[in-house]
Amino acid sequence: MKKIKSLIIIILLMTITAQSQETKTSTDKKWWKEAVIYQIYPRSFKDSDGNGVGDLKGIISKLDYIKSLGVDAVWLNPVYESPNDDNGYDISNYREIMKDFGTMKDFNLLLKGMHERGIKLIMDLVVNHSSDENNWFQESRKSRDNKYRNYYYWWPAEKGKPPYRWSWFDVNSNAWKYDAMTDSYYLHYFSEKQPDLNWNNPELRKEIYDMMKFWLDKGIDGFRLDAFQFISKDDSFPELPKEIINKPLEIVKYYGNGPHLHEYIQEMNSEVLSKYPNVLTVAEGAGDSPKAALKFVDPDRKELNIAYHFESVDVGKHLNDFGLVKYKDIFSRYDKEFKDKGWLSIFLANHDQPRMVNKFGNDTPEFRELSSKMLTTFILTMRGTAFYYNGDELGMTNAKFNSIDDYQDVDTRNRYLGLKQNGGDLAAFLEDQKQTSRENSRTPFQWNSTVNSGFTTGKPWLKVNQNFVTINAESQEKDPNSVLNYFRKLVKWRKNNPVLIYGKYMLLDRENPKVFAFTRELEGKKILVLLNFSADNATVNTGIDPKNYKIINSNYIYLDSIKNAILRPYEALIIEIN
Ligand code: GLC
Repeated sequence: MKKIKSLIIIILLMTITAQSQETKTSTDKKWWKEAVIYQIYPRSFKDSDGNGVGDLKGIISKLDYIKSLGVDAVWLNPVYESPNDDNGYDISNYREIMKDFGTMKDFNLLLKGMHERGIKLIMDLVVNHSSDENNWFQESRKSRDNKYRNYYYWWPAEKGKPPYRWSWFDVNSNAWKYDAMTDSYYLHYFSEKQPDLNWNNPELRKEIYDMMKFWLDKGIDGFRLDAFQFISKDDSFPELPKEIINKPLEIVKYYGNGPHLHEYIQEMNSEVLSKYPNVLTVAEGAGDSPKAALKFVDPDRKELNIAYHFESVDVGKHLNDFGLVKYKDIFSRYDKEFKDKGWLSIFLANHDQPRMVNKFGNDTPEFRELSSKMLTTFILTMRGTAFYYNGDELGMTNAKFNSIDDYQDVDTRNRYLGLKQNGGDLAAFLEDQKQTSRENSRTPFQWNSTVNSGFTTGKPWLKVNQNFVTINAESQEKDPNSVLNYFRKLVKWRKNNPVLIYGKYMLLDRENPKVFAFTRELEGKKILVLLNFSADNATVNTGIDPKNYKIINSNYIYLDSIKNAILRPYEALIIEIN
């Protein structure tokens, strides 16, 4: 009897703890959980001086536009000094601004202008690698006993060829490059102009932390950690299974995720981040599973804040290929793991992805607007911080370039060259790039229908998508039903409805191949979201009596009755359940 009593007490205690954990996510409020973060690709946003490249003054001139979107923060892709082999992801000086983009004075003005408008600024932190033109590397390669030698990974040639490592942007897909100056190979997971920094060296780590403080002391509001999972590697460089090549999630596991990864992030937290408690950190590509992703952002571990995992974008080329059920399962699996602690991001596109409407929606004239609005609804109603890529608020589409000469991206260009050397099918590659290349989302922002879409008075660094005449901000400003105004409306609505931020997520009608249906629930308020991801009419079985539906938002202008539970093509409904 005694035993049973104590068992009951234990069970009771466990239930109470579980319940208090259950509510932890919702009570642990943070500005960055509530934020909508607008990503700006500075090279393509707005050019102020007519040299064809977007710049900081250009962004400053558009601050009122950014403010009008209602977003809380901007994530700015790298603006540091760089020879631009990978558009700024190859940094030659971490404390200077890229000449193409302006000066430090411009940067200070931009930051001030944002803060005056209540918008926070998140910078990119690219510290897995630097540029080969960075002074650290220039020194490092000079001699084997140079003070900076161990800032990078070197493999002396007398040890023979280093074990093969795949490289993202190398023409020969080989991450080791021979450097005659010291008869050694250096490691570059990305292009040969992006040598990997050696985080095992405490001096290097200290330099990075000092540099982070330099920017945080200027008042920036956070960092997006670029390719950070690669900062710790198994530096014995064992031979790896060949099958992992081209499988991004596998590559993370084998190439990065080294034995000291969490230790270094924790050190970064205690040395830097903990001293700036209000800043936000976003973990790019976090983890190869929900569990692994959570480890980076579990508040008890004192590492980072938001996990930006890749499973939902690395899932395939087009929704029709992988299917909605698989897609729903990814989000649901992650949400389950994160329901009590940690925090996720929700995004469908960025500068490394094609346009969201091309991958998850439909860019035909008939459905482009509807499906863009449907996807926007998804981003703004799921649990997680919303990351929204510039141009998606207009429903901008893939560039679909025909010729390799139209591409500037080191990824597309070098893979093309490699294929050419090996006699591969170049026409098929180019066709594939129309759907998959990240250049698709990097074309200049479409401000209006004047020459070069109002982006520049000069020759744009990358061709403007020719549909700018019909798809542009100016025309959408005037149209209350435009994709742009829909985005604004939903951002505002999300802000006024904490249920969309902190509310519990539950997937409904899982097997439905066309409709993503889920509820969000908080403190007695229940919202049902119905998203038809197909170009057909679709039925949905929510198990909730439609009599209790109060439709509060639709992406269709004319509301239809949902009583017979039929959703029109790409229809998105937000419904309050009474
Ligand atoms: C990240 C960036 C990408 C860049 C790569 C190397 O994935 O988002 O644009 O090319 O890292 O820095």
